[in-house]
Amino acid sequence: MKKYNFNAGPSILPQEVIKQTAEAVMDFEGQGLSVLEISHRAKYFQPVMDEAEALMKELLNIPEGYRVLFLGGGASLEFCMVPFNMLEKKAAYLNTGVWSKKAIKEAKAFGEVVELAASTNSIPMDFEVSQDCDYMHITTNNTIYGTEISNRKLAEIYKKKGNVRLIADMSSDILSRPIDVSQYDIIYGGAQKNLAPAGVTFVIVKEECLGHVTRHIPTMLDYRTHVDGGSMFNTPPVLPVYTALLTMRWLKKNGGVAWIDARNQKKADLLYECIDNSKIFMPTITDKEDRSRMNICFVPKPEYEGLFDEFFQFASERGMVGIKGHRLVGGFRASCYNAMDVEGVQALVDCIHDFEKMH
Ligand SMILES: Cc1ncc(COP(=O)(O)O)c(C=O)c1O
Repeated sequence: MKKYNFNAGPSILPQEVIKQTAEAVMDFEGQGLSVLEISHRAKYFQPVMDEAEALMKELLNIPEGYRVLFLGGGASLEFCMVPFNMLEKKAAYLNTGVWSKKAIKEAKAFGEVVELAASTNSIPMDFEVSQDCDYMHITTNNTIYGTEISNRKLAEIYKKKGNVRLIADMSSDILSRPIDVSQYDIIYGGAQKNLAPAGVTFVIVKEECLGHVTRHIPTMLDYRTHVDGGSMFNTPPVLPVYTALLTMRWLKKNGGVAWIDARNQKKADLLYECIDNSKIFMPTITDKEDRSRMNICFVPKPEYEGLFDEFFQFASERGMVGIKGHRLVGGFRASCYNAMDVEGVQALVDCIHDFEKMH
């Protein structure tokens, strides 16, 4: 039976990327060695790192003066590296849920943290950014609750921040839509949703913003170490970096970020239209502007609460995988990352419609 992978992360990757990775596990680009056993110092790995950085720059239209790093440690390590490198006195954080809260907790160890506003079921915009902050931090897509900062709200944030540096956790919506990278000093995320298997973290960093804090930064936690070392100061996660490169080649070949943006919109429209008009289910995020296109959350209406297990069973039998909501939200969550095609979302919509016919 065909499986439709709606896991929140690690998550679906393009089939051809998985096949190419499997081929490289057996023989890395005709070298007679597996990608699992090559040295990152070998002459044939450097081009992988170089192309991965170049492709990220090309796909996101990253201006001059930025570097793209591929590191270990996950987005969770960035929660600490960001303030270590950037927070001298005060930083402003927009709290939109669990991941923002974890970032805030780490930042508090380094200086004063201003929580601009907090909400888990909407993107609050009622705040001003004090111009004496070292930076402002946002989480562009909230994987657990299913909210996402719309392009319109992002534009408003760019205005509100004024001259304050902007830093974003884009773990779960990187490369899903065009973004104006010039507005940010650092963009980071775990790559295990839209890019690669678990194990690699991407960091897009404006070189100019580094080196301004007075504290000592341990070598491995200093972004300058990795900028200077071209992501090779220590052994990089070779296999996930290679898969990230393959995913970016796939994206470029198909039409780049503009193409995926349109496809992601189509998928989100399809599924939200279904749950907005459903007899049994309702979306958890009511404000349409704040709805995530990557993580679409829905619950049974109160009168149908008892049907949770039955729908889960029904959907599982139809090949739907990973649709249980996060334990904090309950209900269901369909993660529709870049590699999920329209047909996959249509299969889930058909599944919901067929289930409704039975009740
Ligand atoms: C928005 C967001 N930030 C951070 C993280 C944590 O990432 P990692 O597990 O790579 O540390 C996640 C993981 O799902 C996430 O969704």
